[in-house]
Amino acid sequence: MDRETIQAGDGDIINLPVVTGTEGEQALDITRLRGTTGLVTLDPGYGNTAEATSAITYINGEEGILRYRGYPVDQLVRESSFLEVCYLLDHGGLPSRSEFDAYKSGIRGLADLPAGIVEVIRSFPVDSHPMQRLASAMALLGSYFPVGSDPLDSEANQSSIIRLIAAMPALTAWSFRSGRGMAYVEPRPDLGYSANFLNMTFGPEGEGFEILQPHVRAMEALLLLHADHGQNLSTSAVRLVGSSRAGLYSAISAGILALSGSLHGGANQRVVEMLEDIRAAGGDTRLFLEKAKDRSDPFRLMGFGHRVYKNFDPRAQLIKEHARELLEAQGNPLLEIAMRLEAEALADDFFLKRGIYPNVDFYSGIIYRAIGFPSEMFTALFALGRLPGWLAQWREMIEDPKARIKRPRSIYTGYGKRDYVPVADR
Ligand code: ACO
Repeated sequence: MDRETIQAGDGDIINLPVVTGTEGEQALDITRLRGTTGLVTLDPGYGNTAEATSAITYINGEEGILRYRGYPVDQLVRESSFLEVCYLLDHGGLPSRSEFDAYKSGIRGLADLPAGIVEVIRSFPVDSHPMQRLASAMALLGSYFPVGSDPLDSEANQSSIIRLIAAMPALTAWSFRSGRGMAYVEPRPDLGYSANFLNMTFGPEGEGFEILQPHVRAMEALLLLHADHGQNLSTSAVRLVGSSRAGLYSAISAGILALSGSLHGGANQRVVEMLEDIRAAGGDTRLFLEKAKDRSDPFRLMGFGHRVYKNFDPRAQLIKEHARELLEAQGNPLLEIAMRLEAEALADDFFLKRGIYPNVDFYSGIIYRAIGFPSEMFTALFALGRLPGWLAQWREMIEDPKARIKRPRSIYTGYGKRDYVPVADR
């Protein structure tokens, strides 16, 4: 193993091991830093911190590379399916035909929700956000299907993972319909994963519903491209909560809530709202670009920028292709505004210098809107796609024999010691 010598402040010269990843990425292993020097590291926002080694997803932000278990996402999106990617992320390799058949039939058998969950979610306030319903329903699943007491029980974990992949389309669809006073639609897993989800979301109860194949293809691509993204915020939340052994459903519920924020998964809802604002303001994209550049204005271009991708986000490019395929021929004002905004931003030094490019959320909302989803549903669709990543990452973390409870430190900057003063003397 390589070692790196660093000088800790004015003090000791220390020799730290360097960990090298498959693709040559290098990290200083500071596991023994505090024990040997008394020092800790300070890295707000974790820009320099690898929290884990992981064999699931490789991301190279400089070159715009994203691979699941070694397979480039552009190949997967063209040739695979979302469900096959769920298998891949969980098992580490592609299934044989018989393995995949068995996997799909396991999922088909578990696609419905317990009646109690349907009732509880129906009773939520009508204006509660689908993400709140989804996170609550996820936590509630834990009461119906408690996981065994041993979190290292690989077989029990496998069953829970299959159950969650199977139930998530129903949970997501119901988080939408229940808020609109619509009836629960029974699952039709024979239709396929995405088509069943569209049917449960939009299909009238007990009647046939025409599922458009271009919508199914677009849903498959979007779910697949959201399936995992390394140690992003919501996945880190899943790993953090999971490290306390709080249980799988609690960890995934925490991931859903973490995803809902506007700087993370919530951005896809904000993108379409922003594009609609631009349209309502007469389509003047330059006005909004100037606002984003104004340092005294907190406004940011939603769907632009990424902590890791500073060149391009490969997911955004693939999603843009789908948006054009689905919408360009018939003309779509939001797509037209989005493409103009992108072209103008990419010709502007402000954005180029800072490495701000469209991210995964920029074009996804336009597709969701064209399929018929209201914008408050977009982040729940992100959660539906991200679930297999959360599950694979949770499992990798919990079954790692060296896993420890996650507990960062802070550097205290408050008052020094001072004595308590009774209220009469203050
Ligand atoms: N619009 C305008 N300016 C931006 C944007 C944006 N979307 N993104 C970054 N910047 C500017 C910042 O103002 C800052 O400028 P400064 O150096 O002059 O102060 C600089 O670029 C660096 O920005 P940071 O916030 O430090 O970058 P960071 O890596 O921490 O943040 C983030 C990344 C949160 C995604 C940011 O780009 C952002 O807020 N984007 C808009 C929200 C969004 O689309 N989120 C979805 C992310 S993808 C996902 O989670 C699925």
